[in-house]
Amino acid sequence: MLLEALEGMNRGRPPVWLMRQAGRYLPEYQALRKKHTLREMFFTPELAAKVTLMPLERFGVDAAILFSDITAIAPAMGLQLEFQEGPVVKPWVTAENWRFLPERLEALEPIAEAVRLVKGKTKVPLIGFCGGPFTVSTYLVEDGQWMERDPDGFGEWIDRLTEVSIASLQRQIEAGADAVQIFDSWANLLSEEQFERYSLRPLKKIIEAIKRPVIVFMRGAAMRAEELAKLGPAAVSVDWERPMSVLRKTVKIGLQGNLNPDVLFFPVKEVRATTRALLEEMKGDPAFIVNLGHGVKPGTPLEAVEALVSEVKSDLL
Ligand code: CP3
Repeated sequence: MLLEALEGMNRGRPPVWLMRQAGRYLPEYQALRKKHTLREMFFTPELAAKVTLMPLERFGVDAAILFSDITAIAPAMGLQLEFQEGPVVKPWVTAENWRFLPERLEALEPIAEAVRLVKGKTKVPLIGFCGGPFTVSTYLVEDGQWMERDPDGFGEWIDRLTEVSIASLQRQIEAGADAVQIFDSWANLLSEEQFERYSLRPLKKIIEAIKRPVIVFMRGAAMRAEELAKLGPAAVSVDWERPMSVLRKTVKIGLQGNLNPDVLFFPVKEVRATTRALLEEMKGDPAFIVNLGHGVKPGTPLEAVEALVSEVKSDLL
């Protein structure tokens, strides 16, 4: 169903999955998390596979997204990765040191192995992912002035991140990922010129290199959906800033979204009504995927997620 929608040929109800569906709002995740560090969870294939499958088992979503992180490519560039409040690397990447960091592509292997384990356990399509190079860079580089001071040098670093991102996606695909999503979450921070150079250009390179359907996500994607569609992805994952039916008039590829994650904090009746309204708005659309406009928030009530998913699954054409 997901794969058909990504080809623009879905004839049944739309598929549903949620960004950040494998995470902190799940009690079974929290229980496992008490026993392991985040680094163990991301880099032990059995654990990553187990977390990936949790939302499938609990809600019956139509796609799995690999439990990993956009910063999981850091070890492949010779960086040590730890998680505190968020991801932290040692050493910080600088304009001076990045060319001398040792390449360790074998560090991507646990991620590929997690993909293989998941594929052995479910028939539901598995979405692999990477971060947009600029977004990943915001977590690896401490010096916020680098881009302004040395735009060309920064551009070369972004090219390097682009290469490693492609290597990571290719390994995920070889291991069985059916589609991939690029999370360029922070691209909205860039000026127009920077956006073109450090977001659109690397995204285009990744999309061209990848032989599977690619979904592109960023904050503010609804406002830029037409521009993102030109990069040639299978779908754009949009927020709630523009109605789906309005986007559909100008965007002819896959559209994924666009419920506000805060809706999941409303009473279940309203979750159902809002979901129903979106389904009606996009009824019969062969290239529509139900999702949130950004990730599931920590503390989201389980019954709201359950209501959203079951409302979509009860949608008969
Ligand atoms: O969608 C999924 O369920 C798959 C797993 C996934 C994670 N991170 C697991 C994770 C995905 C797709 C991501 C992407 C990611 N990681 C993004 C882009 C998406 C977005 O939300 O904008 C970004 C910016 C990151 C970087 C990152 N990783 C941050 C800022 C943090 C800490 C705060 C936060 O948002 O969770 C992480 C850690 C992280 N990655 C957790 C999870 C489940 C939290 C783990 C925990 O605290 O137990």
